[in-house]
Order: sequence, then C-alpha cells, then structure tokens
Amino acid sequence: MSEPLRIVVLISGNGSNLQAIIEAIQQQALPARICAVISNNPNAPGLEHARAAGIPTQVIDHKIFPDRAAFDAALQNAIDLLTPQLVVLAGFMRILGSAFTAHYEGRMLNIHPSLLPAFTGLNTHQRALEARITEHGASVHFVTRELDGGPVIIQARVPILDNDTIKILAQRVLNAEHCIYPLAIRWFAEGRLRLTQGKVMLDGLFLPTPVNYQHELSAP
Ligand code: GRF
Repeated sequence: MSEPLRIVVLISGNGSNLQAIIEAIQQQALPARICAVISNNPNAPGLEHARAAGIPTQVIDHKIFPDRAAFDAALQNAIDLLTPQLVVLAGFMRILGSAFTAHYEGRMLNIHPSLLPAFTGLNTHQRALEARITEHGASVHFVTRELDGGPVIIQARVPILDNDTIKILAQRVLNAEHCIYPLAIRWFAEGRLRLTQGKVMLDGLFLPTPVNYQHELSAP
C-alpha cells in the first residue's frame, strides 16, 4: 500500500465539504490524510469538524494583513510547511492572487456551486433561480488564476424544481458536492488525475468534457 495523499483543506465557513472528505477518509473510500485545516475566518463553524476528527487547525485571519499579497504569502508559507501534495479549497471565500495560484498549479482543487462555466462568482443559487433554468449543479476544478475558471474535472447535475427556494436548492447542490469532491480527490490520490498542458487528464486521457456524475436524486 502506498502512503495516503497528504492534503491541506482551506475553509471559511460551515465546512460541510470538509466533513464529507473526513468521512470518506474514515470510511476508507479516500486514501488521503488531512495534515491540517486552515481557515481565514476565526469563527468558521467548519473548524469544529476538524477538531472533532482530531485534525490540526490553523487560523490565518486575512483581516490582520495589510493587503492581499501579504495574506497570500503567509498562507502559502503555512501550507508549504505542511508539505501537502494537494491543496483543497472547500468553501474558501478569499480570492487568491496569481502568484499563489501559479505556485500550486496542478495541485490545488476547488468546488464551485454551479455548472461551470455558468455562474462564476457568488450567489449562484439565486442567479440560477432568477435565470429560470431547469438544471443546476456543482463543479470540481483545478484552480488557475481565473476565478472559478480552471479546467473542470467533474460535475454533478441537479434539477431545479418549481417551488425551490435558494435554501432548498443550495442544500440539493451541497448534497451533490459531498459526492463529487471526495471522488475527485480520490482520483488525484490514486494518481489517475492530473493537470497536463492546462487540461484535465484522467487515466492517461485528456477529458473532452467534464465527467458527468450520476447523482442519486435525494430529497429535498
Ligand atoms: C459550497 O457550496 C462550495 O461549493 C462553495 O462554498 C460552499 C461551501 O460549503 N465554494 P461548506 O462550507 O463546504 O459547507
């Protein structure tokens, strides 16, 4: 057996994706080890998930830094001391500069609550409802300098139903996120997934389109 993949998870909020990753590891569905969880928000509820699982936590509060570059440098330094093989953004709500994203090119993933390239940025569920489309979802992608613009690895689609509210739709998307993020990390851990020439390579082949995850529809 090879060593589990060393990962560092960055969060800002609830950490439900972090919890899904922790559970996948506990259930031996993901050959990884979380070296640390780092939050820019001292009050992120997700820090509790890490503590409950015995994972070291660090807070690097962006508010104490004079500018974005200084925050990025401190974050990069903290991450590199942990020598991870993969950096996992899981609801990390700070925009990262191009020096930072270049440093982790090919070894940093993000999950975004939309079917990219649709709805980059914030408030994706509200915007999907306002657009009166019938399908929404989530995407896991390699992080590049373009915000939510890196090559997409896997997407999960969910329907938008007639009486959906932002909250109901967000939860339906989150349920799907909790399936696809551990899966994408697992592919990386197994050496099956990589970024090559700016494109996603899975099992030695360039992906012509993102993998379409067949999510079992569950209420709500
Ligand atoms: C998720 O919707 C994720 O796609 C987005 O931020 C949210 C984080 O949720 N980037 P959680 O903190 O993992 O519960």
